[in-house]
Amino acid sequence: MHAVVLVGGFGTRLRPLTLSTPKPLLPIANVRQLEHLISNLGSAGVTEVVLAIGFKPEPFFEAFPDGTCAGITLHYAVEPEPLDTAGAIAFAARHAGISDTFVVMNGDILCDVDIAALVAFHKGHGAEGTLHLTPVQDPSQYGVVEVDDSGWVQRFVEKPAPGETDSRVINAGTYVLEPTVLNRMPENQKLSIERVVFPQMVAEGVLAAMPTQDYWIDTGRPDTYLQANLDLIDGSRSLILSSVGANSMISSSASITHSVIGENTVVGEGCVIIDSVVLPGAQLGNRVRLERALVMGTVSDDASLVDCVIGEHAVIAAHADLVAQRVPHPDEAK
Ligand code: GTP
Repeated sequence: MHAVVLVGGFGTRLRPLTLSTPKPLLPIANVRQLEHLISNLGSAGVTEVVLAIGFKPEPFFEAFPDGTCAGITLHYAVEPEPLDTAGAIAFAARHAGISDTFVVMNGDILCDVDIAALVAFHKGHGAEGTLHLTPVQDPSQYGVVEVDDSGWVQRFVEKPAPGETDSRVINAGTYVLEPTVLNRMPENQKLSIERVVFPQMVAEGVLAAMPTQDYWIDTGRPDTYLQANLDLIDGSRSLILSSVGANSMISSSASITHSVIGENTVVGEGCVIIDSVVLPGAQLGNRVRLERALVMGTVSDDASLVDCVIGEHAVIAAHADLVAQRVPHPDEAK
């Protein structure tokens, strides 16, 4: 079975980290997000993954030089220009010659859904498409999905006002599709699957949906990206991973609590790191303090960063005291 993984978004909400590294290639507890996702696809019997790349394919080629990820063969479908979600799925599926039931996943989610069960549900319903749904506490920030008792989608409600719907489940970004869905997607045309194709399928009664309660997180914002890292080292999911990457130089006087330290990093004397992710290649001087920070660049001696996101080329001055800042600021950095 084929899977198409959408990795072509701009990742604006995670800037400046995504200015140098596409979101799906950022590590989560020292393993690239895409690798977590593709190994889940592999355990469901997916044998080939098509990466739907909207722009800048080079980091993906470099990340997987032998053309495999988690033991699965990769195809690279590079769009002539970003084609939005449905345009990207259609381009990738045609590129790989998909002609049978296939899976689609957004490249910026981390979840434990049983994809084999989702495929079985889809086939059992004879659906043209099936969505995976996940519950949320506060549906007012999302597009919620209303489903009837038999598992067919009835309606999408975008950012519902109080009382507008009883549904508390949202589109979780994993789909099973029949190849006939491609007939709804003209070649090389920008098109959204969520806003255009799925509503058409609901009107025709051919879109099913399966809610599950498994672990699920959209890693696309700094707070959720941090949470995804900490959830993995907490062991709140089935995988237990090291929190310290290879070739990192960590001073014995540094204090590291509930944090992830990436590969090839330097952590100087007397640093205090709490609830943070130090990304691959980051350099921390002496006595740096990090709290709920995501750091890719360089932080000089005695700086303190709380709730900050620091991009790859940023250099934070000695003694800086920053709270809730992104450096460089996403509007200035290009
Ligand atoms: P933000 O810019 O922070 O909203 O992130 P994003 O650009 O990744 O957008 P969003 O999370 O809404 O995208 C959902 C999924 O579709 C993600 O996995 C994106 O990588 C992917 N995606 C969005 N637009 C395109 C596109 O034009 N081409 C491809 N190949 N993938 C896309």
